[in-house]
Amino acid sequence: MTIKDIFETMDYGPAPESGAEAMAWLDGKGRKFGCFIGGSHTKPGALFGTANPAAGDLLAEITQASAGQVDAAVSAARKALPGWQKLGGHGRARVLYALARALQKHSRLFAVIETLDNGKPIREARDIDVPLAARHFYYHAGMAQLMEAELPGREAIGVCGQVIPWNFPLLMLSWKIAPALAMGNTVVLKPAEYTPLTALLFAEICTEAGVPPGVVNIVTGDGAVGEMIVTHEGVDKVAFTGSTAVGRRIREATAGTGKALSLELGGKSPYIVFDDADLDSAVEGLVDAIWFNGGQVCCAGSRLLVQESVAERFHEKLKARMAKLRVGDPMDKCVDVGAIVHPVQLESITRMVEANRAGEVYRAETAMPATGSFYPPTLITGLDPADTLMQEEIFGPVLCGTTFRTPAEAVQIANNTRYGLAATLWSENINLALDIAPKLVAGVVWVNGTNMFDAAAGFGGVRESGFGREGGWEGLAAYTKPSGKAKPLARIDALGGNGATAEGLDRTAKLYVGGKQARPDGGYSRGVHGKSGALLGQVPVANRKDLRNAVEAAQSAAGWAKSTGHLRAQILYYIAENLEARSVEFAERIDAMTGKRGGQDEVAASVRRLFTYAAWADKFDGQAHGVPIRGVALAMREPVGVIGALCADEAPLLGLVSVMGAAMAMGNRAVLVASEPFPLAATDFYQVLDTSDVPAGVVNILTGAHAELAPVLASHLDVDAVWSFSSSDLSGIIERKSAGNLKRTWVNHGRARDWTGEDARAFLEAATEVKTVWIPYGE
Ligand code: NAI
Repeated sequence: MTIKDIFETMDYGPAPESGAEAMAWLDGKGRKFGCFIGGSHTKPGALFGTANPAAGDLLAEITQASAGQVDAAVSAARKALPGWQKLGGHGRARVLYALARALQKHSRLFAVIETLDNGKPIREARDIDVPLAARHFYYHAGMAQLMEAELPGREAIGVCGQVIPWNFPLLMLSWKIAPALAMGNTVVLKPAEYTPLTALLFAEICTEAGVPPGVVNIVTGDGAVGEMIVTHEGVDKVAFTGSTAVGRRIREATAGTGKALSLELGGKSPYIVFDDADLDSAVEGLVDAIWFNGGQVCCAGSRLLVQESVAERFHEKLKARMAKLRVGDPMDKCVDVGAIVHPVQLESITRMVEANRAGEVYRAETAMPATGSFYPPTLITGLDPADTLMQEEIFGPVLCGTTFRTPAEAVQIANNTRYGLAATLWSENINLALDIAPKLVAGVVWVNGTNMFDAAAGFGGVRESGFGREGGWEGLAAYTKPSGKAKPLARIDALGGNGATAEGLDRTAKLYVGGKQARPDGGYSRGVHGKSGALLGQVPVANRKDLRNAVEAAQSAAGWAKSTGHLRAQILYYIAENLEARSVEFAERIDAMTGKRGGQDEVAASVRRLFTYAAWADKFDGQAHGVPIRGVALAMREPVGVIGALCADEAPLLGLVSVMGAAMAMGNRAVLVASEPFPLAATDFYQVLDTSDVPAGVVNILTGAHAELAPVLASHLDVDAVWSFSSSDLSGIIERKSAGNLKRTWVNHGRARDWTGEDARAFLEAATEVKTVWIPYGE
């Protein structure tokens, strides 16, 4: 017998992990848990059970929190806020460090409880979930330490309501709590109803680590409790990870309330194998991509795209590997695929796969446990990219695949989804890999590896996978806001007319769409009057059709995103040059419209602002994050896409130029609705754009009623972000309507902005998405 034969015939013996300590912990609590509010555990109330999905046995009973308990938790968090902030960065760093240490000291207990409650293999809980959770607390201890020096002018948002899912209960808790605490916020967190136990154990180590009472509150219960938290008026910021359907609902429920929101939602992430890939590594990668945590991973590589020339060979290798996967008791250290979290999820996976009639289904003859909530690793090949299983999230160990012929086709199929969370690509050709990575519409791209995570690298999606990043410097934006108090927004109305007509030859302002002046569809215009009541000019009233035309023009100027920062800078400088040449005319126009004497300063500030964005166009770059792998994680700044903006009423030129400059500098295209009461500076600006080499469609300008155009802009599916600086507070309608395709919004929530202050970074950040590209290297 050769050594190879021995290895091939040898079977695994069971290597069970002991559950004794976990059971002793549960017994010590009487197997009944209350919530953790203000540093104390409440008495168990109305109870529901949490079970071990591998065996079906009840582990403990958990409290369905009442509205009064949610109130109490929010009040405790509010009360703890000043003290926690006064502790300062170093004080908080010490507490976060103690939490990281406590997680490490109790790591095995956490891992075992996680496995019992969730059904994930103990190997994963022990080697991935718990160490990564500790890493998040270490990393963010550092962020707390550095906050004062590195984030001047930023402060905590306040009380954070955080709702997390069941697939990575402790890890998602750490992703939410660590950055929030580091930046001086306090939290009310709700774990998922299927998996509350590690959050309750975490509550205990908060006390052990010296977290002041009320800084962390854990409230348990189902979606109804989640809804109470996210809609609670004492909550300043909501952070949610879970399904896209619930994320959309939360977007609608929080619209117009002024609450900050970050959403990390579903995905249908492509896993692309090119013909020059190391096929064996790519097969092994798939084990991590789709069978890690039983495929119950938001960024699971669930759509397999294999280049046609190697597809047969690759599928054979994959099937051979599937035959070696061990499905079974998650407490066995030799098991690869554990239990599905809950019979409800098992049923949902089963239903989706059974409803499918397309492709070929393959399952290896894997031994399956006789009882418990298990689903066999499944491969379905030969699907059409439009098939339901290629579009919908299954959230189970089911890999769906198709083939492609050329790299361009791979990109097209990969991006044919409403999601944009992650993507994986395999190729030994660095040229091809680094060409494809930026073309994939996803927040995270893994090259020759998959499911790599670290606290130092941002994670999060685009499109309907949500918005905001977790991890890295970019993740801190979700937990801070600019310091200081803003003035309340004051509505600015147009000046009325007195019947006097305009002087001189009639000048007819139109709309500016696709680089041309266009007549409004509706054929309506309105007069713009000066302080004395004399007519200064007429502007068209754009309607929804004009807005759609402008979006279409912006969409067709997609090439701008690929232009170099150098070119974009040159064009912005050129706009500044041409504006300055006409500064007297613009200043007079602004003075005439507003009836004030600030025109000259506003034009000068606009020229300066254009210079600022021209300066940043080739400098607002990304980072190479220091992640603990052999390789790099590149945080690349990409344009958001088409940005629709309602420009400031009070600063007719500077408001327009500030938004346009930031959008253009970062490679976006813009649909701008001019100042509603004072639109003539914008219509005069068309000629400046025409003489400055701005490609058609990059900037489109409409005049009209903000309140009418805002909902159309916010619900348009080809608009990627909506900003509003209008003096009419349209935040609620914009946020609500944006829920359709979960576009990014940046609205004023009743707060005025000082346009004379340069806040370039805020604009540049809103104009970009961070894509993290992981590139491991070496043998
Ligand atoms: P879910 O999105 O309903 O649950 C996630 C969390 O949100 C839980 O803590 C839940 O109690 C809470 N929740 C539910 N409704 C809420 C509401 N109206 N307001 C506030 N919080 C609310 O996910 P579910 O039902 O457990 O799983 C269904 C599907 O969602 C899965 O099959 C999967 O496709 C997807 N999912 C995606 C996750 C991801 O990480 N992207 C995680 C979990 C589920």
